[in-house]
Amino acid sequence: MHPFGPEATSAPHPLYARLREEAPAHEFAVAPNFNAWLITRHDDARRALNDPRLSKNVSGAPIRTSGGWPVELRAAMDSHMLSNDPPAHTRLRRIVSSAFTARRIADLRPDVQRISDELLDGFAGRDEVDLIGEYAFPLPLAVICELLGVPMDDRDSFRAWSNTIIASALAQGDALAAATAMNDYVRELVERKRAQPDHALLSALVTAADDGERLTEDELTSLVFLLLLAGHETTVNLIGNGVYLLLSHPEELARLRADRKLLSPAIEEFLRYESPVKTATLRIATEPVEFGGVTVPAGAVVMVSLLSANHDPQAFADPERFDPARADNQHLAFGHGIHYCLGAPLARLEGEIAFNGLLDRFPKLRATQPLDELIWRPGALLRGLDRLPVMLS
Ligand code: HEM
Repeated sequence: MHPFGPEATSAPHPLYARLREEAPAHEFAVAPNFNAWLITRHDDARRALNDPRLSKNVSGAPIRTSGGWPVELRAAMDSHMLSNDPPAHTRLRRIVSSAFTARRIADLRPDVQRISDELLDGFAGRDEVDLIGEYAFPLPLAVICELLGVPMDDRDSFRAWSNTIIASALAQGDALAAATAMNDYVRELVERKRAQPDHALLSALVTAADDGERLTEDELTSLVFLLLLAGHETTVNLIGNGVYLLLSHPEELARLRADRKLLSPAIEEFLRYESPVKTATLRIATEPVEFGGVTVPAGAVVMVSLLSANHDPQAFADPERFDPARADNQHLAFGHGIHYCLGAPLARLEGEIAFNGLLDRFPKLRATQPLDELIWRPGALLRGLDRLPVMLS
């Protein structure tokens, strides 16, 4: 069975349990003439994510959807920290971290609260809504606009390009047009921020520097693409998968309603149990790397299954049990090592506000159809539902 095939998309946990038992690394076909190795165990996953022999500079890999795109556009999309190894990664991450601070995230709290409230206010008088399309999807995108300082008047276009780019895996033509428009827009926005600085992240990044060395135009534009790609659908999936898990475990939902202190560990358990990023982004072995007696050859593409690692019985007691109060939850949902998610504190803040809003307002929240009939979106990297129709009252 293929680790990213239809069965693995609808019911991945039994399949990954088998893969974990069988071998520490599995070679399988991703596309014609293109194989990759999947790492499935928790300790191997941690090691792989921290191994400098596994490079994030994958520009030569044959899987890229943007492979045929103009070279300038690719440079504008790919000159970011998640496509780079040290020392370039170190420099980019340091400059961005100097502006993307804990303080900046804390300051976003009232904005995230307002965005969540406005979306939930929009449900007034409705019995049934699609929680993905109408809540989980718009919320993080609005937060990224707020974080970057995208002016209100431009947000509809920004949203439209972003939606097209994210849906792009299938429709390349549209994505190219949208990526080109987004690239032009971000360059122009950078100019505007230079002329009229504000307090948002993009403005701070225009002036942020590392030993006097500023981010280039390509690096700035790339970072906007990275924040969109890394910060949007991932957070959609945290919200959607979390609601799905609560609705499928009504006794745990009741427990959480009775004791809201459980929300913080519950969010970690959502991240572990139905990890929004099921597989870390591609890495390339620059030399042979061994996992428990299996050697991945130099030049091979390596994929680390975060979802599988997060269900490894060697790392988690009773891993197939959904336990919102689970203590010492060492999940790898945000990755590990030098590429550990830079947005994790923001994602947790968004989750806290999103779930509190739903729990506060809808004491009778329930699913409109059997949960095992819901459709999970196909794809190798992300795990999330297509739609999540619910009754509010
Ligand atoms: C990296 C997960 C939300 C920004 C990563 C990685 C994972 C991840 C697994 C590492 C990928 C790898 O090593 O291949 C998640 C999840 C999220 C989330 C599960 C939501 C629940 C966000 C948000 C932002 C963000 C909201 C910012 C707005 C980033 C950045 C990186 C990253 C910039 C690259 C870090 C680096 O290369 O040093 N994320 N992420 N993420 N994430 Fe997130």
